[in-house]
Amino acid sequence: MTSLPYKLLFVCLGNICRSPSAENIMNHLIQQRGLQKQIICDSAGTSSYHIGSPPDRRMSAAAAQRGILLKGQARQFEPHDFEAFDLILAMDQDNRNNMLRLDREQRYASKVKLMCEFCRTHSDREVPDPYYGGEAGFNYVIDLLTDACEGLLDSVLQEIQFAKK
Ligand code: 4NP
Repeated sequence: MTSLPYKLLFVCLGNICRSPSAENIMNHLIQQRGLQKQIICDSAGTSSYHIGSPPDRRMSAAAAQRGILLKGQARQFEPHDFEAFDLILAMDQDNRNNMLRLDREQRYASKVKLMCEFCRTHSDREVPDPYYGGEAGFNYVIDLLTDACEGLLDSVLQEIQFAKK
């Protein structure tokens, strides 16, 4: 039985590029549709590298070009997140594997999906890590995540349409 608000967690490696972008793009779509009370979003990184840091400047610039303000402060994924969220979206397979290593009793594999499963116009299987690349890579991440977030929002709406508050 799904209860509201439905809780989404976006996860990448550093929590400064891809997952905060996914979180803020999703929040943008949620606000556009007035769904703030029904769906809430958070993001985390599997590593401890950037705990406490704001989103990467290059990522924020790419998002700003599409009208998205990146807010947040990096935190590390923790085992409690498996219980606390309804659906966990990994940006790539490494992120998914790293999370599932913390799932000692192997209870949560079905809750952890790859973000690109929700893409409708892109055929990528993973959201590429833009950290060591140039501006084009950051722009591509925003476009890919926008596609995935639109598909994800429709999927979540189907799941929660019969849920009670
Ligand atoms: P993210 O990007 O996982 O999308 O936040 C990265 C951020 C930092 C590093 C790698 C990827 N790093 O190696 O520090």
